[in-house]
Amino acid sequence: FQNRIQYLKDSVAAVKDFPQEGILFRDITTLLEDPKALKDTIDLLYDVYKDEKIDYIAAADARGFIFGCALAYKIGCGLVLVRKKGKLPRETISQDYDLEYGKNTLEICKGSLKKGDNVLLLDDLLATGGTAGAMIKLVEKSGANIVSFAFIIELFDLGGAKRIKDTYGIDSFSLISFP
Ligand code: PRP
Ligand code: HPA
Repeated sequence: FQNRIQYLKDSVAAVKDFPQEGILFRDITTLLEDPKALKDTIDLLYDVYKDEKIDYIAAADARGFIFGCALAYKIGCGLVLVRKKGKLPRETISQDYDLEYGKNTLEICKGSLKKGDNVLLLDDLLATGGTAGAMIKLVEKSGANIVSFAFIIELFDLGGAKRIKDTYGIDSFSLISFP
């Protein structure tokens, strides 16, 4: 198991000073380009959640969609798109949030999630937890039940997982952790 995780870690490129000086950006495009890493990312996440009752994966715009769709296909559940403001054509529920590099708003279509639905939240990367917090609030507004929050990568030193647990009482899981 540790070998598989190390392989995934090694497949993520580290880019200095992007998008701002002083930031070491973890870039998943290299993981996606590696067929073995891409397949194992989905297979390992599937192993974590295969025995849970999951009706939908709710995945974040834009990089969360990539992994969310593959995992939903494998689990055999539906996929709900949590989109940046103004992209969804029907009536929406929305939630503002702070990002590491600014402010934004996330939306889901009204009616996509119903009271009692079991939802796994998913995004590619956990930094401050601002995006994750907005996703949790959106799903809670819909009345659905949050099973867990899955990430491919956690930037551990930013304390996002603890913030999610302390603020919302939601457990998260990350395949890979970087400082
Ligand atoms: C990145 C990343 C997460 C979020 C993490 O997305 O994919 O969604 O930031 O940061 P946080 O924990 O501090 O909120 P971004 O908003 O850059 O969007 P993208 O996927 O469209 O590139
Ligand atoms: N990599 C990718 N996405 C991010 C990062 C990062 O280091 N920080 C916030 N979003």
